[in-house]
Amino acid sequence: RTQLRGDEVIVVSNREPYIHQREGDAIVVKRPASGLVTAVEPVMRACSGTWIAHGSGSADRDVVDANDHVRVPPGAEDYTLRRLWLTEEEEAGYYFGFANEGLWPLCHVAHVRPVFRESDWQRYREVNQRFADAVVAEARSEDPIVLVQDYHFALLPAMVRAKLPRATILTFWHIPWPNPESFGICPWRRELLEGMLGSTILGFHTRYHCKNFIETVDRYLEARIEHEHSIVSYRDDETFIESYPISIEWPTERTVARWPSVEDCRRNVRQRLGLPADQLIACGVDRFDYTKGILERLHAVERLLEKYPRWTDRFSFVQVAAPSRSSLPEYRVFQERIKEVTERINTRFGNEHWQPVRLLAEHHDTDAVNELYRASEVCVVTSLHDGMNLVCKEYCAARDDEAGVLILSRFAGAARELNEALIVNPYHVEETADALHRALTMPQAEQRERMASLRMTVREANVYRWAGLMLADAGRWRLRERIEARV
Ligand code: F6P
Repeated sequence: RTQLRGDEVIVVSNREPYIHQREGDAIVVKRPASGLVTAVEPVMRACSGTWIAHGSGSADRDVVDANDHVRVPPGAEDYTLRRLWLTEEEEAGYYFGFANEGLWPLCHVAHVRPVFRESDWQRYREVNQRFADAVVAEARSEDPIVLVQDYHFALLPAMVRAKLPRATILTFWHIPWPNPESFGICPWRRELLEGMLGSTILGFHTRYHCKNFIETVDRYLEARIEHEHSIVSYRDDETFIESYPISIEWPTERTVARWPSVEDCRRNVRQRLGLPADQLIACGVDRFDYTKGILERLHAVERLLEKYPRWTDRFSFVQVAAPSRSSLPEYRVFQERIKEVTERINTRFGNEHWQPVRLLAEHHDTDAVNELYRASEVCVVTSLHDGMNLVCKEYCAARDDEAGVLILSRFAGAARELNEALIVNPYHVEETADALHRALTMPQAEQRERMASLRMTVREANVYRWAGLMLADAGRWRLRERIEARV
């Protein structure tokens, strides 16, 4: 909060932090399944300001004023949400097309082929311009701090810079950045890089992604790079490239006091799923996305049951998969495939009383997910590639009893911080199956030792630290620019 005193803050993201939905005669407010929203929202609550995002709920238009503003969160009304309306054509081209069929697979290198259509690219440019214009329109000062979120807005930083040259633009790329060869297949690589270099600071989750980005710039632009200081100079602008590992809001004592006990969570979840009280549970919680390694996880569960038959009847794998981007064929095919494999495993190993895999393919709210974390002996995160991954951090935060084991993919950014997890290569089914067995048989004392250490890491490196580090760097850059302007 101190970092922000007196400064105007504007956030730009595609996904809005609150969605107003019509349900019968009532309007209900929902939170989207989004790591980005989880991370940025507490920062906005602390600093006030304006958040510009795409209005997507069925009642979103009913609650805004003439400027498309609504104060959120409901009840607290800490900051302004400015909604921007996209046509179906814009959403199809910019969001589903260029962002999610092009940039998403391009950056994740999850062996799904990126699709680049000229028409999607046009929409992406137009929508970036519309959001950039909204930033300029909302700005009350010449030098706001603009926090640009994610791969939906690669072009926006340079667009804002053109109109507000004194703005401090912090762009955070929430997904991985691939190596120059992989990125180089994008027909508009130059335009994307130039757009991003309109930022004052460009943040990634890990040093590895920063290095990939700098190498990409080096390969495709005539830029000057000061490797020692991680600064790229291109045309008249300088951009500082830095890693800021994103995180979660650590639960306060008051929040924890409201949680049902671990015992109650265990009982409730098992009752709801019709599982015996002594059943061990491993859970997965993801958006239903091909980058999350859900298929590989199911293969590991299958291998576990093959290799260690003692788990028959005694263990269930519960996968929450929040439907996501379902209008894209790649996602629909993937979701069908997961359902088929689940059925196959259940038919192969299950019996009339017991099904090893429970696939819950629907959105679960925060309380339901927290209950599942507290009820599960193991949490499995097997992303094939992930910028950071917040599920693993949420699991640690939920385990105030210091029990539970985290299995974590080495290809998630979080693996660089959470060393006490059981780290696996999700492409290696045998290794993941063995990790599951090890987790299910891990002595309490070892669980406690690992979980206590994981919790300490997540508590310290929380989302306020993520934002604080970025804003402290922004403060230094603002000062430096002011001093240089005087010389
Ligand atoms: O991982 C990138 C990201 O933008 C996250 O920040 C967010 O959780 C997720 O994708 C949401 O995707 P979408 O907004 O397309 O549902």
